[in-house]
Amino acid sequence: MSSSPDTVAREVRRRRTFAIISHPDAGKSTMTEALALHARMISEAGAVHGKAGRKATVSDWMEMEKARGISVSSTALQFNYTPTGLANDDPGDVEPHVINLVDTPGHADFSEDTYRVLTAVDAAVMLIDAAKGLEPQTLKLFQVCRHRGIPVITVVNKWDRPGQAPLELIDEISERIGLTPTPLYVPVGIAGDFRGLYDRRSGSYVKFSRTAGGAKIAPEELLDAGAAAGIEGDAWTAAVEESELLSEMGQDHDQELFLAGETSPMIFTSAMLNFGVRQLLEALVELAPPPAGREDVDGNVRDVTDPFSAVVFKVQAGMDSSHRDRLAYMRIVSGEFERGMVVTHAQTGRPFATKYAQAVFGRDRSTVDTAYPGDVVGLVNATALAPGDTLFDGPRVEFPPIGSFAPEHFATLRARTAGKYKQFRKAMDQLESEGVVQVLRNDTRGDASPVLAAVGPMQFEVVTARMLAEFTVETDLEPLGYSLARRTDDVSSAELDRQRGVEVFTRTDGALLALFSDKWRLQFIEKEHPDLTLEPLVAAAD
Ligand code: G4P
Repeated sequence: MSSSPDTVAREVRRRRTFAIISHPDAGKSTMTEALALHARMISEAGAVHGKAGRKATVSDWMEMEKARGISVSSTALQFNYTPTGLANDDPGDVEPHVINLVDTPGHADFSEDTYRVLTAVDAAVMLIDAAKGLEPQTLKLFQVCRHRGIPVITVVNKWDRPGQAPLELIDEISERIGLTPTPLYVPVGIAGDFRGLYDRRSGSYVKFSRTAGGAKIAPEELLDAGAAAGIEGDAWTAAVEESELLSEMGQDHDQELFLAGETSPMIFTSAMLNFGVRQLLEALVELAPPPAGREDVDGNVRDVTDPFSAVVFKVQAGMDSSHRDRLAYMRIVSGEFERGMVVTHAQTGRPFATKYAQAVFGRDRSTVDTAYPGDVVGLVNATALAPGDTLFDGPRVEFPPIGSFAPEHFATLRARTAGKYKQFRKAMDQLESEGVVQVLRNDTRGDASPVLAAVGPMQFEVVTARMLAEFTVETDLEPLGYSLARRTDDVSSAELDRQRGVEVFTRTDGALLALFSDKWRLQFIEKEHPDLTLEPLVAAAD
């Protein structure tokens, strides 16, 4: 029996689904753990950011999951959070918020997957290292958020270490990405001497105390301005002055501008010391939007309280050669999901049984029997599902494809032995349908060696490894000297084909893409031939 729309609406209201976007080493894992600590999923931090002897292992999380019956996977971490007056206050019996933290794969496996994850969230936390400011991967991911209109909360982490001045960081963000930070708090004490936070909205001071090794929730003390000035002296005065300056520049929080993606509430933290973590959780609960309905291919909105629907945003194939298991992750858009329900796969019209829906959440398969909009559920044996696909119950719905993203790496691929061509072709179709890479073709190169296009070079390694493991096809990959793609049209293609350092291809979805060796080549051609159609490919359903 499905719950009433009222139940679904209540569940939606208390949910927040977000991702952390950051450059490797900014502190994403440490922050994830600090959030879990504040949500009281774990009683002690240290699995990740502890020093020698307490190093992170996946099994720490698995053990945690078993002990607490919560859902942990490398893809989505779900936890309850009840706002408290101070971090050390007891949350009591108030109905908690449900927070879904969807993991963006970091480090080396930067790929289209990273981008697709951002189609499954309603807000992003942009985590920045105070000493380093904006870094390349953060910028790339931020562009996706901007394009998708995802509101961003900015977190300046590692404030316990020497870094830039707050106003410098704020200027850098405004100038480089055109996002206006509106700090909710100003740190008291310069980077490296993190004492507490000046709450710009209430005018009070939250003073932090360290705990041994940053393992526990940092006790907080709430002081009024007079008491704060007495204790912190110049550091307090500086914080208040900075805040006034920000107000004069119009950098106070404005909910509408935040939701429109124009401004970004900013918080200063030390994930390692657990300073500022409650403030981040509270900002998520207070300011980040709850899950909302989604427009379908016909422009009608499937509202959150309508019957069940979900979008597949990530597909993971087992690298195990013996069985081709596929795991699909769906984000629920509307209605209630109950384990075992049979839903319809919009793309094929076929029924899809969700009996094994929970296996992805780890050992305890009975932990999630129901899920609501904003939640992420993993489906095993999802051989027919591809990123962007829709699943539904009740009235039919199909959401627009999540699209492909601007590739920056290109390579040709061919089967080493001609006799394997048929398998090669089949494997290529399969991997393309899973969204592992984009496939481009043109008459000059022929079908035997299509061009693969990817956001990150890791995607090529996945293709060659899976070609061999699952289809027993040995392949040769040859990187191409292109780094940029633009969408063009039939008329422009002929002219572009005559240019040096450019080649035009047809992508499987029919889009015409012109590849350029570098941005100077592109700029030169644009200048010489201003009439040519050359549209940037942004992260979008293009
Ligand atoms: P990532 O997931 O974004 O890649 O970052 P991760 O959390 O692994 O953190 C990268 C390094 O930064 C770690 O140090 C971590 O301890 C440190 N770090 C994270 N947050 C803070 C913070 O708020 N303050 C300070 N001072 N350091 C922070 P490491 O030396 O690589 O590891 P470890 O020896 O500390 O475990």
